Parts: sequence; structure tokens; C-alpha cells
Amino acid sequence: MKPKVYVTRLLPKEAMDKIHSFCDAKVWKGELPPPRNVLLENVTDMDGLLSLLTDKIDAELMDRGQKLRVISNCAVGFDNIDVQEATKRGIIVGNTPGVLTDTTADFAFALLMAAARRVVEGDKVVRAGKWKTWGPMILLGQDVHGATLGIVGVGRIGLAVAKRAKGFGMKVLFSHVARNKQADDELGIETVDLDTLLAQSDFISLHTNLTPESRHLIGAKQFDKMKRTAILVNTSRGPIVDNMALYEALRSGKIAYAALDVTEPEPLPADHPLLTLDDVIVAPHIASASVATRTKMALMAAENLIAGLKGEMPPNPVNPEALRKP
Ligand code: DGY
Repeated sequence: MKPKVYVTRLLPKEAMDKIHSFCDAKVWKGELPPPRNVLLENVTDMDGLLSLLTDKIDAELMDRGQKLRVISNCAVGFDNIDVQEATKRGIIVGNTPGVLTDTTADFAFALLMAAARRVVEGDKVVRAGKWKTWGPMILLGQDVHGATLGIVGVGRIGLAVAKRAKGFGMKVLFSHVARNKQADDELGIETVDLDTLLAQSDFISLHTNLTPESRHLIGAKQFDKMKRTAILVNTSRGPIVDNMALYEALRSGKIAYAALDVTEPEPLPADHPLLTLDDVIVAPHIASASVATRTKMALMAAENLIAGLKGEMPPNPVNPEALRKP
């Protein structure tokens, strides 16, 4: 008998084929995530769960899924999962690091450049029939080359963004939520404290995990420290930024621009105050959304799922200690 798994959204075919070849899979085919009650009902007799970042996987759900042996998240971030609870229950959790690094870094850079050079505003002007002539003062933006980029969070994606920045002749500053000299030496970088980075950077790009320490890491106090010309880019997790403080900072001219792939909440309601401002770009959490990368992520999630069902260590475990429990 094949192990039973619940898959909370349809994934690229290659991954679905892999899952079906090893598992008896029930798949939620809706475009929106399964409602909470559906998720709770469906985990009851499942051996494994393949989840997305939109699914809240907490103690209540794990209590319902008494047979769960593995939770495989199709994302590098796993702040939607209570990993501690999973570990307590001996449930292995997997994620999809590495394969989305460059795609996400490309997108962070795309947002940075679109904000600096006001690409989205320009497009709106043209579409609205407001483009009358070439003008020496029209839609003036900021230079990327030669500017200083502050990268908050020095993981794979932060470093990949730094590589792109070097190609543009930018000066790069790094900051960690928890600074660590040994980690810096291993990475061959020097970090500065967050306040220094905020004060000196023309662009600030966020690449840190969402944890209790990093929630609202960027709020009113931090906007006060930034240059009035600063451009904030967020491709990490929405709650790292206090959205209402960002709105106030933009509205009052404390900073110049923001380009966000992630927001709090997601989706951002169409009547959210941030969307009344011209100096904000909001993308719908698509930084990893290339055909190749989403396929690789789904395959990796399928592999993590299958390994966990076999009682093996998944290729990318978040809590390897869960399997070592008696
Ligand atoms: C992740 O994987 O955590 C991204 O936010 C979505 O690709």
C-alpha cells in the first residue's frame, strides 16, 4: 500500500508525477489555498503533507494529523510551520533552499532598478496618455551604479544580490539580525550594525528570515535613520517591515521609494493605504516565480516528502533532530 499524502496545491507536472508514483496523493486543486477546515479534515489519516507558505501548519493541525511523518514545504521559508511542534512529534520538515537563490536575487535587483528608475510610474504615464514629449525634468530617478546598497540578512540570497550589485559598481554593506564575527569571517565579509547600514545606504534590500526577532525589524525608528533618498526593497517576508510605518515614511518624505514583493498581509488589499502612493511598487510575492525555478522547488519538495515517508533523512531537512528522536 502506498503512503497517503495531502498536497495543498497543484504543482508542476514533473513533481506531481513523482509524488503520484510513490504516494496515494490527495491534491487540493483550487487556485486559492485550502480553507483551514478542509486542511484540518484532510490531514487526519495522512502520512505526509506537502504544504505551501500560505498554509498554516501549527500544533492544532499536527494534533489532527496523528499519522504525519513528514511535512514538506514547497518554499525556502518555513515561518508558516511550527517547527518546534513538529520536532516534538518526530515529524521531519523539509524546505527548498538553494534552487531559488539566483531567481530571487534577480527579482530583488529588478525591483531595485524599477524603483530607482521609476519604470512602473513611467509605464502608467504612457498608458494614461500623459506622455506629451521628451522632457528634461520628467521622471528623474536615482543612479544605481556607484550607489551604496545595504543588505540586511547575509544568507544565500543576500550574497547573490551582493554579487549583482558588484557588477553595477555599487558599494555593498551587510548587516545580520544577529551579528556573528565567525560567520562573517567564513563568508569573507564584514558586517556593520543595522543603524550604520540604514544611515549610509542609498538602497536597502531585506533578505532575512522571519523570526520573532526580525518581525517589524524595519519600523518608524529605522525609517528615521535612513536617507531621505533611500529606496527600500523587500523580497524576504512582509512582516519584517511595519507597513503602516512604511506608509508614513513615504508619505512624509522620510524615504523616497519602496519596492515590495512581500507584504503584511498577503495578499495586500487593493484599498490598502500603501497602494495610494506613487512611490511604491508592489509585486504579488513572485520573486522565485520562473518556470525553471518553480519546477525545481516542486521537485525538491517531492523528494523531501518521499524521503520522509521512507523514514530517511530528506535532502533538505529543516529539523534533522526530529528523525533522531526515539
Ligand atoms: C520562499 O520560498 O520562501 C519564497 O518566499 C517563495 O518562493
